[in-house]
Amino acid sequence: MYQTIDPKDFVLSPVKKIGDEWLLITAGDKFGYNTMTASWGALGVMWNRPAATCYIRPNRYTYEFIEKNDIYTLCFFDEAHKPALSLLGKKSGRDGDKITEAGLTPVCDEETGAMYFSEATTVIFVKKMFFSDLKDGTFHDETVLSNYSETNPMHRMYIGEILKIWEK
Ligand SMILES: Cc1cc2nc3c(=O)[nH]c(=O)nc-3n(C[C@H](O)[C@H](O)[C@H](O)COP(=O)(O)O)c2cc1C
Repeated sequence: MYQTIDPKDFVLSPVKKIGDEWLLITAGDKFGYNTMTASWGALGVMWNRPAATCYIRPNRYTYEFIEKNDIYTLCFFDEAHKPALSLLGKKSGRDGDKITEAGLTPVCDEETGAMYFSEATTVIFVKKMFFSDLKDGTFHDETVLSNYSETNPMHRMYIGEILKIWEK
């Protein structure tokens, strides 16, 4: 039911899709994984490879899985699943089975071992290439932080190579 799309032919409005509609970052494998909602990120090119960037605070449970696993997924959904994404962005997988509560169906991709959700309209499989921690003293414009009550710990940025993209 998914078609594989060449990253060069993949079309989406990143500001709307990531910023307004959100996505799930899912890391781990079938023996242990977690997911969380994100509304920051970027899709483009880095080191001449198709690349995805995301930002995860180290206090997220998902952080433990992305640290331990090389491959993770970015899943996009239709509007009907926004309440599920809202829940997955409020609750922690540390505290209970929020994925079942959100009504999503986890699936393991045989090829990569990575986890995704069958309800996703688009799944991007990503392999970590680089990380860096956002730091005090490196902001040109500190006012970007003023809208956020939560500023510590600061996000870890991950830049990953896009391995494959699936679309329904
Ligand atoms: C719309 C929305 C966007 C979010 N974006 C991010 C993000 O980009 N990075 C991040 O670290 N947390 C982000 N969060 C917060 C996490 O999704 C949230 O803390 C989640 O409960 C973490 O789950 P976990 O502990 O199971 O990993 C966002 C939450 C919402 C609701």
